[in-house]
Amino acid sequence: MPDAGMSTGFAVTEDALAKINLALHVTGQRADGYHLLDMLVTFAGHGDRLGFCTSPSDGFTISGRFGSALGIDSRSNLVLKARDMLRQAALAQGDHAPPVHIHLEKNLPIASGIGGGSADAAAALRGLMRLWNLRLPGGRLSAIALGLGADVPMCLANRPLIARGIGEEIEPVSLPSLAIVLANPLKAVSTPEIFRLLTAKNNPPLALRGGDWLAAIEASRNDLEPPARELVPEIEDVSAALKSAGARLVRMSGSGATCFGIFGSTKAAEAAAAKLHSERPDWYFQATETLSGGR
Ligand code: C5P
Repeated sequence: MPDAGMSTGFAVTEDALAKINLALHVTGQRADGYHLLDMLVTFAGHGDRLGFCTSPSDGFTISGRFGSALGIDSRSNLVLKARDMLRQAALAQGDHAPPVHIHLEKNLPIASGIGGGSADAAAALRGLMRLWNLRLPGGRLSAIALGLGADVPMCLANRPLIARGIGEEIEPVSLPSLAIVLANPLKAVSTPEIFRLLTAKNNPPLALRGGDWLAAIEASRNDLEPPARELVPEIEDVSAALKSAGARLVRMSGSGATCFGIFGSTKAAEAAAAKLHSERPDWYFQATETLSGGR
């Protein structure tokens, strides 16, 4: 059983890329309390990594910079919840879902607005579908994903998209690759807490016109940024640091506290991340190119 990180020995590996909310508009609230959102989403070229192999019994190991902050019981860890829900669906239709060892290399900060847990859950679904050679009827996998969390369906899609509803209505979108720096003050943020603090819940929807993407993103918002800034004052410092390092546009992703800065080139983003890291070695900085995607 491979246990020394992600180097070798897995039958299947999957990337769990960081999700970036280029825009997040809160347009209403459902009767059950969930908020209706319009989101423009892309994915970084950087994230967690998962490895899978069959094993005499189920196992789960974690490594990586942020691995020690994670719980490994199946009530709290979305990877194990994903495994259990997919196995239940497989067994219900008469398929096999033999014991599996899963390794998670946790490179993304926890509770940071870039969907680490959701991306891990989606990668677990993709990886186990391959390892177990499963076919599920249309819509079943998306339903399992949504049952794991509102952001899991978009992480399953893993490409530039617009998401509406609570995140489950997904429309692929053409978006160029963007050179960005992710920055986080390493203050964990609770998503339900940010939604609880949110006062403006009926905001204008996302209105994207084609053409200049940067201008279109600039004209949109993240409506969770005001309550997150109230809770975590460091978001102001992170945002200012990205701007002073030359970012053309700076915004918070998801419910925070990660902010992204869009730069003119990959070289400029890498230079900015190196400079910021030397100034604030206690924060998280990552330069990356986002995925591009045609419709
Ligand atoms: O679906 P997930 O477990 O990721 O959501 C965490 C919490 O965030 C929910 O319990 C809810 O309080 C809040 N939320 C929301 N509206 C959304 C997504 C999440 O109010 N669209």
